[in-house]
Amino acid sequence: MRYIVTGVAGFIGSSLAQALLERGDEVVGIDCFIPYYPREIKEWNLNQLKAFQKFEFIEAEIGELFSNRVQADRLLEGVSAVFHQAAQAGVRASWGSYFETYTTCNILATQRLLESCKGREYLRFVYASSSSVYGETQKFPMQESDLPQPVSPYGVTKLAAEHLVRLYTHNYGLHTVSLRYFTVYGPRQRPDMAFHRLLKSAFTGEQFTLFGSGEQTRDFTYVSDIVEANLRAAERGRPGGVYNIGGGSRISMNHVIELVEKVTGRQPRVVRLDREKGDVTHTGADVARAATELGFTPRVSIEEGLAEEAKYIERVILKLGV
Ligand SMILES: NC(=O)c1ccc[n+]([C@@H]2O[C@H](COP(=O)([O-])OP(=O)(O)OC[C@H]3O[C@@H](n4cnc5c(N)ncnc54)[C@H](O)[C@@H]3O)[C@@H](O)[C@H]2O)c1
Repeated sequence: MRYIVTGVAGFIGSSLAQALLERGDEVVGIDCFIPYYPREIKEWNLNQLKAFQKFEFIEAEIGELFSNRVQADRLLEGVSAVFHQAAQAGVRASWGSYFETYTTCNILATQRLLESCKGREYLRFVYASSSSVYGETQKFPMQESDLPQPVSPYGVTKLAAEHLVRLYTHNYGLHTVSLRYFTVYGPRQRPDMAFHRLLKSAFTGEQFTLFGSGEQTRDFTYVSDIVEANLRAAERGRPGGVYNIGGGSRISMNHVIELVEKVTGRQPRVVRLDREKGDVTHTGADVARAATELGFTPRVSIEEGLAEEAKYIERVILKLGV
């Protein structure tokens, strides 16, 4: 089978592409290397994929690439599913003048891609949505039927794109599925994310800035569980369906710091600052819908997953020196 993975040089896109290639599928990966974090990290991710003959990489911005009809038709020919992972991620950077990148990469690019995909009866479109669409909630676990009320500009763009995705199912019959990922971690995790920074701090002694009291909780999801959810969504997802994908381990940041000490045998250098605007206090996924309709169950425990990420930080990030 032939698949398109957008955001293929990134954390989740490269992990998903690798899983598809390992099972013998063909992957066309697209990425434009937005400069949110060092390109060396993305090049390393891509190098793991370039070892596979059935991998083709296209360096391009999605909105531009798919604005050209002939080019889009050529790319989508024979494709069974598009896994749309590309986005400008990150909650904190989404305030202020940089917001334009969020609208371009998260909303406009998704709309262009959907336009190119519509009318393709056999195509599956899987969209990487986010738990950040929910915002602050008093009710746990979070359910797909809850009213989404994002508290960050990033969350607003992820929700806007999720609505667009659903519209293309309702109006054009495109078979789309949206997966609301809850904080993803594991090897290749973005360097702005807490586990990456904490583990690096433990190994190098550099400062780790913790925003808030540390009592905020997250439902952490290991990257191979996210990959599995994508594969299942393409096979079994209901048209227009929205699914929470969580890891089943909702723990506080203070607890994570203890686990990092346990896994690495070293103490990260933690500096505490006030909570940042846009950060939610707690997240927790109800994955019952994904369990029933996709057959999804998270498999990797936080300790196992954290140990895998620690190996990656030591073997890759410290060697790259980034
Ligand atoms: N990592 C998480 O915890 C998490 C949680 C919820 C949702 N998500 C979503 O999962 C997806 C992947 O996140 P990630 O953590 O792997 O991020 P990432 O930044 O590592 O990867 C995203 C990649 O997309 C590329 N990209 C962005 N806009 C593009 C465009 N317009 N054209 C071409 N390439 C473009 C970037 O260069 C980058 O390599 C995103 O959609 C994100 O919103 C991630």
